[in-house]
Amino acid sequence: MTATDYEMLGRNDANDIEQILMMTNTEKEETISRVKNEADSIFTWDYEKGKRPRLEKLYEKSKHSMWDGQKDLDWSIDVDLDKVVADISVVSEVQNGPITRLAESPNSPFKNWGDEEWTQLNKESLNWQLSQFMHGEQGALIATAKIVETVPWIDAKYYASTQVMDEARHVEVFAQYLDTKLEGNYPVNVHLKHLLDDIINHGEWDMTYLGMQIMVEGLALAAFGYLHMMTSEPLLKKLLRYVMSDEARHVAFGVLTLEEYYQHLTLAEIRERQEFAFEAAVRMRDRFLQQEVWDRMGITDLRPIIEVQLNAAPEEKEFQRLLFSKIVPNCRKLGLLDAGDGWLRTKFEEINVIEFEHLEATDTEFDNFALGEDDVTSV
Ligand SMILES: [Fe+2]
Ligand SMILES: [Fe+2]
Repeated sequence: MTATDYEMLGRNDANDIEQILMMTNTEKEETISRVKNEADSIFTWDYEKGKRPRLEKLYEKSKHSMWDGQKDLDWSIDVDLDKVVADISVVSEVQNGPITRLAESPNSPFKNWGDEEWTQLNKESLNWQLSQFMHGEQGALIATAKIVETVPWIDAKYYASTQVMDEARHVEVFAQYLDTKLEGNYPVNVHLKHLLDDIINHGEWDMTYLGMQIMVEGLALAAFGYLHMMTSEPLLKKLLRYVMSDEARHVAFGVLTLEEYYQHLTLAEIRERQEFAFEAAVRMRDRFLQQEVWDRMGITDLRPIIEVQLNAAPEEKEFQRLLFSKIVPNCRKLGLLDAGDGWLRTKFEEINVIEFEHLEATDTEFDNFALGEDDVTSV
């Protein structure tokens, strides 16, 4: 790794703990956050529909795949929070391996903790995770509205407009779940917010797609899939299933658009995209350090916790690795892994996720996520 590889992140090394912790959310108490959008809004006078048949097909499909978060989900279900937390504790146990070791060390920040605190930690982690999903969904809502304005192709504008509606539903249902089934929520994680700001601010329209459709939504699709598999809580399970059916289309939209557009870029331009993709990957990894949860649990010095998490053994990072199972094959499909000197392949090797490259890319896989008869009728 060279220092310059991490300049875009404002740090010398991806694992620089001081610099990771130096980023704090200064807008915690604010109700709104302003982000400048540097991209031009583009009109097109070429209205020929279906010039890009795969995008047109996605648009037509989307029009018939709209669900209604109020009618299709049963909000009368009583949620047993202890049960939800117990379901996903398998994930927590593996993830918390390094934390457990730290707890056993003489200077443990958890030395006064009993069962109550550990249970509370799991509840806070669930709340934090769903809160970040909600904030990420709002990022997608804004990014997709931006794409409607900035993409120069009519088929893409049509499709993106349907995604705006999808994202509104996603924000709505996550917010409602947090509000009515859990207690309170968390502000946006500083690393996630930084990434969303970069995506919304960027002057090149395709960077919004790369950051949102390929990286953020690719990770979300894998994360939702994992939580959907682990939880038996019927409302959350169905909510995630519905959201995933949309997200797979969104990722496919990114792959189909960028696959065409990247064929016309120079190697220098492609390198910028490779770096942007990796910057997004590091910010998303940092987000999962869940600094805000430790703060709320009353831990004052986060350094030892961040350190053991960053230095965890590969098997303890299985969950974080799985989050890249959609991103890597899609980056390969876009030609981003090997373009130029293969910079992104080297980076994905360094963070130990390259093995996912030959999984199916989402542009051909998305139909598998479509809602079936069972999904629609079962609660
Ligand atoms: Fe979404
Ligand atoms: Fe989405």
